[in-house]
Amino acid sequence: MQRVPEPEELMDDPAQAAAYAEADFSEANELFIRLLRQLVPQGLRGRALDLGCGPADIPIALLREYPELRIDAIDGAPAMLEQARQRLALHPGVGERLHLSCQRIPSAELPAGGYDCVMSNSLLHHLREPGDLWMNIAHCAARGATVLVMDLARPESSLALDALVETYALNASEILRRDFRNSLRAAWTVDEVKDQLAELGLRGLEVSMVSDRHWAARGHLVGAD
Ligand SMILES: C[S@@+](CC[C@H](N)C(=O)[O-])C[C@H]1O[C@@H](n2cnc3c(N)ncnc32)[C@H](O)[C@@H]1O
Repeated sequence: MQRVPEPEELMDDPAQAAAYAEADFSEANELFIRLLRQLVPQGLRGRALDLGCGPADIPIALLREYPELRIDAIDGAPAMLEQARQRLALHPGVGERLHLSCQRIPSAELPAGGYDCVMSNSLLHHLREPGDLWMNIAHCAARGATVLVMDLARPESSLALDALVETYALNASEILRRDFRNSLRAAWTVDEVKDQLAELGLRGLEVSMVSDRHWAARGHLVGAD
């Protein structure tokens, strides 16, 4: 299936951000956290960065699990960060270890080599230029940092896309069904992601399918050529 970019990079419409924040993405979020646990069996600690954090469900869950972890979470959409702030208010115990900020990728504000772990879920397909995410990761990850990027994979045909929408968004609101459809159309395939990494000379990440609709690029970043 031909790729069709997302109509908008940012999810800054308040109704869209609220619909996303209210939806149940626990299955995908739990998969993401499971993959991180496999990457760091001794447990996460130190300084982590979440790129395109949305309502911050993943960083909040990680901070609850790992008391020695701090996370900087960035998103370019003020409406989504407002959802994240509301979420955070429900988890006062983790608030002081989560720093939310409004930054658009590519961001020049991220500290070079500043993070032990860099993660991103469901962001890459939003970006006009995928290299922006990979280069930001290469810039701010410490040598050997744990990196996990997970996203939807573009289905092979529109029939396969329809089947995924019916399976996973059957009873979802119209906004969510529309967004899921747009995301699947804009998503990259495993081979395309491998090409992106090879083109930029990023080494240390393995890319593979991790569910019927997600791929993950994961590992410990050795560095860019
Ligand atoms: C599908 S949501 C994923 C949110 C979250 N990572 C999760 O797993 O629930 C994608 C998020 O990326 C943000 N985003 C899109 N393009 C961005 C960019 N260029 N810079 C920063 N954030 C961006 C959107 O505003 C949105 O909140």
